[in-house]
Amino acid sequence: MRSIINEKNLKNKKILLRLDLNVPLERNKITDTTRIDKILPTLNFLIKEKAKIIILSHVGRPKGKVVKELSLKPICEELQNKLGKKIRLIDENIKEIKNKNFFNNHNEDIFILENIRFYSEEEQNDNKFAELLSNLGDMYVNDAFSCSHRAHTSICEIPKFLPSFSGLQLDLEVNALNKITSEISRPITCIIGGSKISTKINVIKNLILKFDNIIIVGGMANNFIEYFGNSIGKSIKEKNCHKIVEEIISLSKREKCKIIYPEDVIVSNNLNGSPQKKDLNEILFDEMILDIGPKTIDKITKIIDNSKTILWNGPAGYFENSNFANGSIQIAKKIIENNKANKIFSVAGGGDTVSLLNNLKAVNEFNFVSTAGGAFLEYLEGKSLPGITALN
Ligand code: 3PG
Repeated sequence: MRSIINEKNLKNKKILLRLDLNVPLERNKITDTTRIDKILPTLNFLIKEKAKIIILSHVGRPKGKVVKELSLKPICEELQNKLGKKIRLIDENIKEIKNKNFFNNHNEDIFILENIRFYSEEEQNDNKFAELLSNLGDMYVNDAFSCSHRAHTSICEIPKFLPSFSGLQLDLEVNALNKITSEISRPITCIIGGSKISTKINVIKNLILKFDNIIIVGGMANNFIEYFGNSIGKSIKEKNCHKIVEEIISLSKREKCKIIYPEDVIVSNNLNGSPQKKDLNEILFDEMILDIGPKTIDKITKIIDNSKTILWNGPAGYFENSNFANGSIQIAKKIIENNKANKIFSVAGGGDTVSLLNNLKAVNEFNFVSTAGGAFLEYLEGKSLPGITALN
């Protein structure tokens, strides 16, 4: 993998720069800018070297359709403010634009293409679409480690057409995760939460082989709670997961990895409703699980106390509403307490987890915080990520 930082003569070179600007948006407002802040060094480096930049990114999952709420416009504005430079958003259909040389006007050096997932070809890893995009630039840089587990056009097909490099943030994440995985000390506990169940549930089987404890909270825990015969009302869950949960349970027994899922929960009738503590056999059909309960927090706290390494990916509940943030906050507090006392090595990852830690002003209290969620877990699994393989 060649890093862009070692490249000379970038002046006037047109760089296609894949970033992960998938930041949380609430009514067009960015609620956490960490992913933007982290890629500023790469942008500043390219600006200093007088390169011409075309940014590619996605936000959300528009599934090949133009979804107004998932425009990169607010993100483009935030980037402009942070860089103090004009950035033009190209919102016309890139397949229909005739003049694709964006840099005719000498005052404009940075462009950003509208949400790349508005094109269905992006997630299909389409070779023709990659060729069209690659014709816009002279070189390609991937500074989106957090997307490098996706075999998508802008991640792993464009490098087939252009000299390709890693960006500064990708270098940093890969180096840190390499160091962590080679120096890890046992017992190792992995806490997996969040709402992107489909990405994560398949990862667990491979993690069982490496870890001593896997604590399952957040949306995925609902699949486990239901598997053990409880009603989960109208909580989110992944469909058709009975078999995979069964495999996870039996593999964990064989490999002596403990799987921990909630013993009690906090429910409500909707995301804005009032919180109610429930045991697993008390959940009603019109209730949804939105956080872990006190018995579960207690259990997790004890496991953290008996661990030497903690890897945390995904909040324990719907932390965006403070009524359902307690489980995540208590997990964070316990990790921070043990980290300060030098009892554990702690790593956190994922957009939502980073956002939670930012709210708590606790990002610097962990040994390492990765911007990546799914990519972070797949890297821990020991898998080669398509985006990294493409750069090699
Ligand atoms: C992330 O938030 O983990 C990345 O931006 C990838 O997003 P995705 O899970 O929608 O592919």
